[in-house]
Amino acid sequence: MMLIRTSSNTSLMANIITVEHPFEEGDLLEEYPDFQEQIYVDNYPFEQMPTRQFRHQDLMTDQGHSTYLTILAKDNDMMVGRAIIVQNNDGNADRVFIRIDVPKQYRHRGYGRQLAAAAKQQCIQRQITIYETAARSHTKNRQSFTRTREMLEQVKIKQTNVEKKSRLYQDQLDIAMIRQWNRKTKEKLPEIEILAYTKQQYRERILEDDQFAAKAVAYYNEVTKLVPQGDSSRKIKDDTVEQVRQQLQQQAKNNWDNYVIFALIDDNIIGSTLVYFPQGKLIQVNTGLTAVRKQWWGRSIASYLKTEMILNLCEKGFDHLDTENAENNAAILHINQKLGFEEIYQWYFFEGMVADLPDAIR
Ligand SMILES: CC(C)(COP(=O)(O)OP(=O)(O)OC[C@H]1O[C@@H](n2cnc3c(N)ncnc32)[C@H](O)[C@@H]1OP(=O)(O)O)[C@@H](O)C(=O)NCCC(=O)NCCS
Repeated sequence: MMLIRTSSNTSLMANIITVEHPFEEGDLLEEYPDFQEQIYVDNYPFEQMPTRQFRHQDLMTDQGHSTYLTILAKDNDMMVGRAIIVQNNDGNADRVFIRIDVPKQYRHRGYGRQLAAAAKQQCIQRQITIYETAARSHTKNRQSFTRTREMLEQVKIKQTNVEKKSRLYQDQLDIAMIRQWNRKTKEKLPEIEILAYTKQQYRERILEDDQFAAKAVAYYNEVTKLVPQGDSSRKIKDDTVEQVRQQLQQQAKNNWDNYVIFALIDDNIIGSTLVYFPQGKLIQVNTGLTAVRKQWWGRSIASYLKTEMILNLCEKGFDHLDTENAENNAAILHINQKLGFEEIYQWYFFEGMVADLPDAIR
């Protein structure tokens, strides 16, 4: 018992290095992508490994909509764990998202606790009082999820939401069905106009066309509030055109691409869908927000937009499409199931008080 106690008292075990993104330091930039690879293998077994070059670039670019801080734990010069602190620039200045990952071979030694304590210090310095986190549960390894949950309960965390992560492989698509569905919905909606943009085209339109920018921002301000938030206390704040323009200019420098499709009736935006993927690589494509203004719900607009997007992606060639949907979002889950998405695991989201995070020494 004594030995276990000593090994969980981690105050002197690992060196803690805190790095603000974008990364600048030479050695860390070389070392960290390899460490990330280990985390991917251990913690994200369903994901396609991003290339080393991509992981490298990801550290050096600013994501635009959020600020990143990475806390690294190093023991005898080996990287043994990391915490990522993300603050979305969405007006919720009191809260961050914290994710802590320790590769398998270094678990149960107290590094996770030490990283949580270091994250706590950083949050306190920045006057952040609430943190969110997420844990993945998949059918194959419930044991590790149970342990994560137990650890989270110790810090008095509350569960806010559950999201299903689902995937659709291009070679398993029922393309004839999707074409027919797309045709049928189009026939029902003769008045609809479709606008499709790449990341660059959308940025240019928002930067250059004040009228369209005002419309798009008002549309997003309205529909983002319709997404089920579970029990989260996060406030959805409105963006101004100026803020969106700044975000898009920041995002121009990162290494993600996207496609967005809007549905318009009489020149009004009534719905949209978005996908994003590592620049130039249509392998693992993620779906972003699909939404429809409330007065237009139940008229197949989302179905039309999603089938339209999938048909576009098929032309460009992709491997698979991933999506995450709140477990109580029946409409989008229904559409995705009809499209052929299959659930691969679930994300459990939590919210807790920074003050309840552990300190390094028990
Ligand atoms: C999800 C959303 C985009 C759907 O838009 P929509 O244009 O109404 O969708 P559609 O009309 O194309 O299809 C809705 C389908 O869901 C079904 N549906 C709706 N509510 C349902 C419910 N409570 N249970 C089961 N199915 C439901 C409809 O019957 C329809 O299926 P059908 O075509 O087989 O009859 C819209 O509700 C929305 O904007 N929600 C807020 C944003 C959001 O949460 N987006 C998803 C984030 S992951």
